Amino acid sequence: MSKDTPNDTIAIACDHGGLGLKQELVDFMQAEGHTVLNLGTDTTDSVDYPEFGYAVAEALKDGRAGRGVLICGSGIGISIAANRFAHIRAALIHDATGARLCREHNDANVICFGGRMIGPDLAVDCLKTFLSTDFEGGRHQRRVDKLSNP
Ligand code: RB5
Repeated sequence: MSKDTPNDTIAIACDHGGLGLKQELVDFMQAEGHTVLNLGTDTTDSVDYPEFGYAVAEALKDGRAGRGVLICGSGIGISIAANRFAHIRAALIHDATGARLCREHNDANVICFGGRMIGPDLAVDCLKTFLSTDFEGGRHQRRVDKLSNP
């Protein structure tokens, strides 16, 4: 793939607290024709959310995916994990306005959910907005650039 070609693949991962919602979101994305890279977990066994946040961050870094979706019980731990990487702008989202703004203002490349905090219909609405909203650039570009250079 040329470096100018956007990577449309969406990487997704969760811990045991996000498994049910992950399946709903995978089903939605596949029904919409997206290519989905599922990086686990795929059982209800207790696992450590940082490993799954890191897996999606690595998939974006090495070009296997262009955007990511992460889910844990609250959405908090897995968003903290992903945001430890300079190339990741992960937004923990609870409503469609946040989903729009994290794209328009922050150029978020990963959306995070709390599987125990949000219902599947609302999460699908948020994901749909996240995937279809462009970054506004302009004054926001300068701010986003600063996020990579703390
Ligand atoms: C797992 O029980 C839970 O701690 C995890 O899913 C998440 O909510 C952490 O932030």
